[in-house]
Amino acid sequence: MRINVEVSRPETKVTPLLAIGIFENQADESHNQYGLNEGLGDLLNEILKEDFQGKVENTYLLRTKNSLSPTRILLVGLGTLDDFTLLEVRRASGRAALIAKDLGLKSLCIDLFAGNGLIPFDVARSIVEGLELALYSYDRHKTEAPPQVVVEDATIILQLDNDLKVAEDGARVGDISARATILARDLANSPGNYCTPTKLSAVAKEMADRHSIRASIIDKEEMTQMGMGGILAVSQGSAEPPKFIILEYTGGASNTGALFLVGKAVTFDTGGISIKPSDRMEEMKYDMSGGAAVIGAMQAVAELRLPINVTGLIPATENMPSASAYKPGDVITIFGGKTVEIINTDAEGRLILADALAYARSKKPEAIIDLATLTGACVIALGTHATGMLTNNFELGAKVREAGESAGERVWELPLWNEYSEQIKSQVADMKNTGGRAGGTITAAALLSNFVEDSHWAHLDIAGTAWTQESSAERSFIRKGATGVGVRLLIELLRKWNS
Ligand code: BES
Ligand code: MN
Ligand code: ZN
Repeated sequence: MRINVEVSRPETKVTPLLAIGIFENQADESHNQYGLNEGLGDLLNEILKEDFQGKVENTYLLRTKNSLSPTRILLVGLGTLDDFTLLEVRRASGRAALIAKDLGLKSLCIDLFAGNGLIPFDVARSIVEGLELALYSYDRHKTEAPPQVVVEDATIILQLDNDLKVAEDGARVGDISARATILARDLANSPGNYCTPTKLSAVAKEMADRHSIRASIIDKEEMTQMGMGGILAVSQGSAEPPKFIILEYTGGASNTGALFLVGKAVTFDTGGISIKPSDRMEEMKYDMSGGAAVIGAMQAVAELRLPINVTGLIPATENMPSASAYKPGDVITIFGGKTVEIINTDAEGRLILADALAYARSKKPEAIIDLATLTGACVIALGTHATGMLTNNFELGAKVREAGESAGERVWELPLWNEYSEQIKSQVADMKNTGGRAGGTITAAALLSNFVEDSHWAHLDIAGTAWTQESSAERSFIRKGATGVGVRLLIELLRKWNS
């Protein structure tokens, strides 16, 4: 989508659709849109008094009958002023985009919403995210022709010259973050027979080549030499070869360490020998959403030319049952030498992450953030409205939480006390891969913590947030299927890393 930002009076814009934000219960708000209300012969005033309450994502569409330059005016609800955050900005702009699309319009104009102390940079960023993400749909496998008219242009209009530069910068960041999120959504929505580890590594490499990121794809033979026993064990039941994807972006000084982003990419998780029930097993094509988020975030980091070094690690494999599959009771050796007794082959994510985290650890990282659809228990604990966070470093945790707020991707912390590690003690190896039903998200993280040792680390369990489930909240800019969660959080975290 082409995005313009300009200073102009809304009533003078020649456009098929002008979207204006309206706060809830503010019937006198037409004063803020004086020019519009005047031009419409006080009609706006009447509508705000009697017909339109301004609830978030609610809309009211009217034609201007040549009384004003815009052909149509769309009032879009922002909710109450007190509750107005960047989330409502995305919801409102996303709703405006969907209405433009339904009307078959090629372009729209949208007011730079203001209120509750939000700064123009963030509002512009969030408007663009809302517009582009709402218009996203995954229809690669539909054979019917897609609609001919698509919304191609959006103009954000503002009234103050002073805000123009910051709003333009914000819109640019929003465009980068929306496209990165869409890349992650496309990968995650892609079915398991299309998005194999080989295909995922090829897409990651293409992205890297376009953005001067160094890509190394470690194959099975090299993994064997390196001793990556976690990903090798998980992949050994599959006909698809595993890939360990390394993406290196160097925007910072060569003498500073890199931040490591690690993403679980199980391109399909059957559970293996500890096979899952068939009910909703198809959703396990999304089990590579963490890896998809890292690939998306790396693209954004490069496009933003952030002055830091960032390395993405994406262990990619299928988890299948077969005559060659790994089994309960097996003992495997993770990169670096620690051993794990397999109790349940469906607890595979932590094994491939263990290799990746231990590898990151060996590179003296500045910090490690991992994202994984790791545990069904996380969906039980937090539901679908928050990502679970576990960390060994308070400051890093605070940064991640803040980035999540700013990105509209909330995280909620769970504890990582030593007691939980007792649940994963093994008779025969250094640890076992499951710790029983109690605190399943935490015992999974407790296993991971053994591989980061004292590196600063935050683990994000995105099992409840990576795709929309029955209990997911309806949001204009979050379409059914993969959400691309984590991409926008990581971008916010990395953009503000040194500030
Ligand atoms: N990918 C799943 C976790 C998952 C399940 C995410 C459902 C989203 C929805 C993971 O590999 C898994 O199977 N975890 C097991 C762990 C258990 C065997 C200790 C789980 O959560 O049941
Ligand atoms: Mn599993
Ligand atoms: Zn899994």
